Amino acid sequence: MKYGYFDDENREYVITNPKTPWPWINYLGNKDFFSLISNTAGGYSFYKDAKFRRLTRYRYNGVPMDAGGRYFYIKDGDTVWNPGWKPTKTPLDRYECRHGMNYTRIIGEKDGVEANLLFFVPLDTHAEVTRLTLTNKSDKPKHLKLFSFIEWCLWNAATDMENFQRNFSTGEVEIEGSAIYHKTEYKERRNHYAFFNVNVPVQGFDTDRETFMGLYNGFDEPDAVMEGKPRNSVAHGWSPIASHYIEVDLQPGESKDFIFTLGYVENPDNKKWESKGVINKQPAREIMERFDTPEKVDKAFADLRKYWDDLLAKYTVKSGDDKLDRMVNIWNQYQCMITFCFSRSASFFESGIGRGMGFRDSNQDLVGFVHQIPERARERIIDIASTQFPDGGCYHQYQPLTKRGNNDIGGGFNDDPMWLIFGTAAYIKETGDFSILDEMVPFDNQPGSEVPLMEHLKVSVDHVINNLGPHGLPLIGRADWNDCLNLNCFSHDPNESFQTTENKSEGSKAESLMIAGQFVATGRDYVDLCRTLGKNEEADRVQKYIDEMTEAVKKYGWDGDWYLRAYDYYGRKVGSNDNKEGKIFIESQGWCTMAGIGLEDGLVEKSLDSVKKYLDCEHGLVLNNPAFTEYIPDYGEISTYPAGYKENAGIFSHNNPWVIIGETVLGRGERAWEYYQKICPAYVEEKSDLHKVEPYVYCQMTAGKDAARPGEAKNSWLTGTAAWNWYAITQFILGIRPAYNGLEIDPCIPKDWDGYHVSRKFRGATYDISVRNPHHVSKGVKSIILNGNPIEGNVLPIMPEGSINKVEVTL
Ligand code: BGC
Ligand code: NOJ
Repeated sequence: MKYGYFDDENREYVITNPKTPWPWINYLGNKDFFSLISNTAGGYSFYKDAKFRRLTRYRYNGVPMDAGGRYFYIKDGDTVWNPGWKPTKTPLDRYECRHGMNYTRIIGEKDGVEANLLFFVPLDTHAEVTRLTLTNKSDKPKHLKLFSFIEWCLWNAATDMENFQRNFSTGEVEIEGSAIYHKTEYKERRNHYAFFNVNVPVQGFDTDRETFMGLYNGFDEPDAVMEGKPRNSVAHGWSPIASHYIEVDLQPGESKDFIFTLGYVENPDNKKWESKGVINKQPAREIMERFDTPEKVDKAFADLRKYWDDLLAKYTVKSGDDKLDRMVNIWNQYQCMITFCFSRSASFFESGIGRGMGFRDSNQDLVGFVHQIPERARERIIDIASTQFPDGGCYHQYQPLTKRGNNDIGGGFNDDPMWLIFGTAAYIKETGDFSILDEMVPFDNQPGSEVPLMEHLKVSVDHVINNLGPHGLPLIGRADWNDCLNLNCFSHDPNESFQTTENKSEGSKAESLMIAGQFVATGRDYVDLCRTLGKNEEADRVQKYIDEMTEAVKKYGWDGDWYLRAYDYYGRKVGSNDNKEGKIFIESQGWCTMAGIGLEDGLVEKSLDSVKKYLDCEHGLVLNNPAFTEYIPDYGEISTYPAGYKENAGIFSHNNPWVIIGETVLGRGERAWEYYQKICPAYVEEKSDLHKVEPYVYCQMTAGKDAARPGEAKNSWLTGTAAWNWYAITQFILGIRPAYNGLEIDPCIPKDWDGYHVSRKFRGATYDISVRNPHHVSKGVKSIILNGNPIEGNVLPIMPEGSINKVEVTL
């Protein structure tokens, strides 16, 4: 069953039934000011950091689900309704929610009144703008009472939900005209406040939640709204809110616009106050003025649309398959921007409190984003590298506000260092900007410790080389990509987190085949980079280790029909046919096949055939098989999950593209395409009731074949799946791949495809590429004609900036 449809022309997903199987959300803002918004207008806003600068309050896992947001109540006679259906849930005559690129439009209609709400964060603006258009479609005059509503968060989203003995006494607001200011803690250590304004005079307001709602009422029946009478309350402590009251008269056919701005302001210390106790509102007034007429809002909205037109024009495909085209041209790229902005911090599954920016996560997210805004990717690489330690190890996370490594989580995840090479190589291949390697970047943000970025890449490689185990394979440390394979943890205490418990890796023999494959695959990028830079000695040095690693994998990492997953603390095999459960794991199959280890001896083919046999199911590839049914302290969190969920044999979508790319190494286009479609949201739209989460974005996990409810998905939006599937489809299936010296063409498609067209902007030039498949093969470029002339090989040269180039590829 579907709950809406794709409107590709407008780049929107249109939800027509508000009772989606889970709130289907969207993100507003793409730089500093962000909002999450559900299809019923639930969600919250924050500035830069979802933990430390939360503007509006949100209660995760509430009852009912998704309560709290920016609500507009319309009282028309005795009927009170919301355009987004919630929270009153008054049945609507029409409902539509259009999630688009960084904006959401919600249209509700009731008894001849249409409310059209457009929510967006204008470019380079620290505010969410909402334009509400009310139209009287009936033949009688309407007298409506309109109430807006948001609830302030006391800035730190963690303590806001915790420290009530203090919080209930600290709240402070100011009211001036139609603007309500939230200034809790401003008089002490904060130099920031928030405001909620409307561009028309109001006939009343409320800022104290209890007075507005009534202590025992829900969002669905605030006293003030139900009675149609604002209380003009001024909050002192307790829970400050902001609500405007506006009386609206509409003649038949008449429309009126109301523009609300929810903004954030930081003042310098010497400009904090207008007078004693009165905050300096000038910067807020400037923001309000920028959006105080519908024309100004239209212009800002048009700018946002244009921004996305330009971004999405960098890669477009015409394949004849609508689903593929909409994923590649619109939604996958959009999601990559979102994962780049948020890492794994704030979604409807990530509370915005627990996790900052992940080291490995952010490096991977880059790969999906770097063609869109390379300058921001560059800055990100430097931020990430600045949290690295001198020995190549890394903080696993950092806070976006401070850009400092997060001490609570610490380091010791031994796959982390190689991801820095992965991200940096992707950046250089996209941009040709080798100068980034000369940037002086500190270790652990310590002034005076700066070395060129290239040196960071070297210590990353060396971190693997210096941490090899008894079989010459990489020691796993706290964990590798699989945060839940905790081979040095042995936890028996339910009060400790597997992610932060003591890492007992001293004397451990635990080795990772995932990192081994990663070292070979990503190490190759490093070697190529060194050669491109003429650093042949360094290239030779590292190549030698790659060769040794390859041999070690073949000798100690092969189980007969697939690659082992690991050796545990005691040196026993993990992911072997000898094991009772967890005989085969996806990560090592993905990485070792992408690296092509043992290709000539048939290992890649055998491994991938085993993946098909043991890991595949209707909904995608599961992580391991058989699932663990008992807790194994030697393995850690992986064995805590019920069978079929999350890292324990869930379809952890992030790693499916590793196998897809592995299949393209073998040239098996059908298989690659089959796996791609299985987890691609547009292809599972019809199963929305089962799948539950948004059909326009990837999710982290779908319950696997061993689960109670196979096919049910969770953790949508913030997942490495976005970048990896983008990478797999664009660079390995459609096969248009940035290289240090040009644009490589190497498709791997189902044999029955006739061809497709890709327009790719690369290093300032446009390449209009037509791929034809007259002989119905999967792989192998027969000829390329560039602007009428045949070229040697399959790498398109770098063409002059601004040039438009016609490329005809025949397979
Ligand atoms: C999850 C992982 C996640 C880790 C760290 C675990 O509970 O299963 O997917 O990476 O926590 O946050
Ligand atoms: C989610 C984490 O964000 C990511 O870093 C990790 O690799 C996967 N879970 C697998 O555990």
